[in-house]
Amino acid sequence: MIKRFVFGNPMETEAVLKKPQINSIEMLPHLAWDGETLSLQMSEEDIVYGLGENVRGINKRGWVYVSNCSDAPHHHEDTHSLYGAHNFLLIDGKETFGLFIDTPAKVTFDVGYTKYDELRITVEDGAFELYVIEADKKAAQSGEEQSRAENEADGQGLSDLEQIVREFRGLIGRSYIPPKWAFGVGQSRWSYMTSQEVREVARQYREHHLPLDMIYLDIDYMERYKDFTINREAFPDFEELVAELKEQGVRLVPIIDAGVKVEEGYDVYEEGVANGYFCKDADGKEFVVGVWPGRCHLPDMLNDEARHWFGRKYKVLLDMGIEGFWNDMNEPALFYSEKRLNELFDKLGEYKGRNMGVDDFFEFQHMPLALSNYEEDYRSFYHNINGQKVRHDKVHNLFGYYMTRSAGEAFEELEPDKRILMFSRASYIGMHRYGGIWTGDNKSWWSHLLMNLKMMPSLNMCGFLYTGADLGGFGMDCTRDLLLRWLALGIFLPLLRNHSANWTRRQEPYQFGDTEAFRGILALRYRLLPYLYSEFMKAALADGMYARPLGFAWPEDPIARRVEDQLLIGESVMIAPVYEQNAVGRTVYLPEEMKLVRFRGAQITEETVLPAGHHYVEIPLDEVVLFVRKGHILPLALGGEKVSDVDWDELELVHFAERGARYELYDDDGESREVDLDAGIQWICL
Ligand code: GLC
Repeated sequence: MIKRFVFGNPMETEAVLKKPQINSIEMLPHLAWDGETLSLQMSEEDIVYGLGENVRGINKRGWVYVSNCSDAPHHHEDTHSLYGAHNFLLIDGKETFGLFIDTPAKVTFDVGYTKYDELRITVEDGAFELYVIEADKKAAQSGEEQSRAENEADGQGLSDLEQIVREFRGLIGRSYIPPKWAFGVGQSRWSYMTSQEVREVARQYREHHLPLDMIYLDIDYMERYKDFTINREAFPDFEELVAELKEQGVRLVPIIDAGVKVEEGYDVYEEGVANGYFCKDADGKEFVVGVWPGRCHLPDMLNDEARHWFGRKYKVLLDMGIEGFWNDMNEPALFYSEKRLNELFDKLGEYKGRNMGVDDFFEFQHMPLALSNYEEDYRSFYHNINGQKVRHDKVHNLFGYYMTRSAGEAFEELEPDKRILMFSRASYIGMHRYGGIWTGDNKSWWSHLLMNLKMMPSLNMCGFLYTGADLGGFGMDCTRDLLLRWLALGIFLPLLRNHSANWTRRQEPYQFGDTEAFRGILALRYRLLPYLYSEFMKAALADGMYARPLGFAWPEDPIARRVEDQLLIGESVMIAPVYEQNAVGRTVYLPEEMKLVRFRGAQITEETVLPAGHHYVEIPLDEVVLFVRKGHILPLALGGEKVSDVDWDELELVHFAERGARYELYDDDGESREVDLDAGIQWICL
């Protein structure tokens, strides 16, 4: 059951597609409202799930999270805001319910930080729509019918938590579905600088029999970082390169940035200025920000006409044979604003010749560092939303969403029969209908491997199913063991991409000497593909979750509810990756009897049934261990070096079930936008 409440006069975000009737605030269940803050008393046992892309745990208790899309390349435990703003929470306590705070403004969630037993939610402008969602028992019945295999197999139906997520997702609309090839392995680097370098990556992968489906192009494929242009010196044969690699089963996926370079003669710039499509300053002049190309303007993604215009620009690359993109810097990230830069030059001049004591010095030192993503800058430019001048900070969290929407809407027009790969860095709930996300600039840290795992279910709740982190880590130097361990998690996640920054150690698997262990782990991805794709599609088409915390399946098990380093992937599989350097294994918690399945070189080397409880499991670097749930089946393909090699008809069934048990395998052509759950399902019986 969903109840809607409106506070003040909030801006429309278009996150919610079907709006229930408004209730009076006096009828607000569970929460207290003091005119400024929503609050909830929590007991010791309550768990708070959700908040999508954020640091810390699957259980969000004990920190303050601020929804404010931020370019945060140095994030760590202390960080309050990452690239996305996902205001959905799930309270699992004596009462279990979901909350969605729909507003483009900044929202602060104090989840038991100030007082351990109190949740406090404050919206900057005080204007928002609130949705309170409780498990609908009647809907749970139909959910039971819909979720088929899972409920058939364990005979349980959905937990309240799963039911609430399903209801919430019904409100915000179906999640984005990428083409099937986007479930293959992707290799990225900032940047592969030339056509030759791209060919070399493909060659190395094939030579080592490392499977590969995508190579990503970072900003250097463009002519001086100008969107929708090609650097013809470095990529003279761009179109041929695209075709040649596609022939080998490898798609090129270029980046598109939010900022448009200010340059006379550059069509995107000139058209944007001529039509008034860029964000303006208080005086009505195009606002100047610094990003990769230097001085840029920001397309007014919140203006319908400008958004349509920008989206149509992707056609330039679609016409060259490109079938997928990643949208970047769309928080939007500002290296500087010209306004602030000039102020800073003046200010720094004042320090010249001064005898700087500690306070002066630190102030002086801090000023240039504070230039990027400077808060005041976000209050210095405006959008034109249906003829209304709206200051950017009021709608900040929608910018990345609407940039990706601009592309998504254009793709529907330009390629009505074909799925185009799209994922974004910044996002807000609602964007999940147009693209996936990657989780931004992480680091080659073991702690970020674990954070990757923890974030996945929170993102899924909010509708972001096609997601993943930069495997191996973006910033800092990666080591062989870190990459192997991270891939052993990454092969279970929908977006599988190894990406790294230009100043770091090379991170392609073949850069670390012997490739055998990498080959085994990546080959396993292709063996798992029919299962992973089925589970993804079932989650997308039935508003379910692909990656779940254990507490969602075993809500009555107090230990399972507290597990922060294991996940359920689809209905049959539980994973427990190693995330510590030099560890040769780890402790795994089994809420019930399960079958341990061990892989080496993508081949099964062990199948052991283990009783419920804690177990120490050895997991060498070149092995992957997964657990098959009781009553369940895991279909495995024979393998392949690209997605199109994988044969859906020849499957090996790994199972922990009796004769007669069934699995619902989903398949389709992997390309058409038209998808039908029932038509795609085929029962596999033991
Ligand atoms: C941003 C992106 C990163 C990319 C870099 C250069 O930092 O998050 O993925 O490589 O920009 O385009």
